[in-house]
Amino acid sequence: MLIKIKRGWELPDSAATPESVFMNRRTLLKGLATGPLLAAGAAMPFAGGLGSALADEEQEDPSAHLYPVEQNPAYTLDRPLTPEDIATTYNNYYEFGSYKEIWQEAQALKIRPWTVEFDGMVEEPMTVAIDDLLAKMPLEERLYRHRCVEAWSIAVPYSGFPLKALVDFARPLGDAKYLVMQTFEDDDVAQGQRQFWYPWPYIEGLTMAEATNELAFIATGYYGKPIPKQNGAPLRLAVPWKYGFKHIKGIVRFSFTDERPVSFWEELAGNEYGFWANVNPDVPHPRWSQANERFYGPDGQERLPTQLYNGYAEQVASLYEGIENELIFM
Ligand code: MTE
Repeated sequence: MLIKIKRGWELPDSAATPESVFMNRRTLLKGLATGPLLAAGAAMPFAGGLGSALADEEQEDPSAHLYPVEQNPAYTLDRPLTPEDIATTYNNYYEFGSYKEIWQEAQALKIRPWTVEFDGMVEEPMTVAIDDLLAKMPLEERLYRHRCVEAWSIAVPYSGFPLKALVDFARPLGDAKYLVMQTFEDDDVAQGQRQFWYPWPYIEGLTMAEATNELAFIATGYYGKPIPKQNGAPLRLAVPWKYGFKHIKGIVRFSFTDERPVSFWEELAGNEYGFWANVNPDVPHPRWSQANERFYGPDGQERLPTQLYNGYAEQVASLYEGIENELIFM
């Protein structure tokens, strides 16, 4: 599936995608034969049926019986939901390729057994099996907007639990200032991880105040079912007031630290994809406007004005009061 979009306000994905960061970087890596890998990925045929891939996943996922869960009425939408077949087939997951149609490649990921580590500044480091963790967490459904830095957006039902519940479970020390999350590493199944010019593993970070804000959520389900692999199974972050690249997928590790981490995209291009990454229509990306977004709704694509903090200012604006000399919207 290749989604073609018009020019004008509608930014071509080829210009907006972080792939272009790679292209810039590639020009610096003179003499390295990097092109064919990407070209081969882009030409990958769209074979097989989505229905059967998702059915297989449900069979393989022992958490399927947990869903659907009750919806939390505090988190609803001002727009219709994005159709499930779009939200599960138009994705960013660079571990599986730097193009949008990675859902099929992502089925190679084995999500059981899956263990999660808690370490760094915690009372006691722990390694916990995913199903034991899920059994301890308070599951609920929330409807969230999702705004990618590339200027497309969707609205989706996540199931999961507040990140604060996980922080409490991990028992960080009082002087921990940041929570750092890390994606799995396995370049046998995630062939994008063979692309050595990316700083694998994918990591992301939040301040402790952000991580314990009521909106910060760990998604384990999507559309009333276990979350598909391409959307970040079995654990994926959802911080809807921030650009999509903060929503790290396939998490295996939560570390607490007093040093601000440098995240995956920040390391590649810190002037374009910063630590804070809060949505603001008035602060353009260095290479395109963020004033509008291309929303994927039930009637196709629709141009909508982008909102400050993606519409969640009431819950999060106070987190950033008093922060000086920082690009909090980049
Ligand atoms: N997490 C990992 N590990 N690798 C990625 O490439 N891409 C991010 C984010 N999480 C990414 C990731 C980006 S840029 C976006 S917009 C969202 O995932 C997309 O989430 P979705 O495909 O579920 O809509």
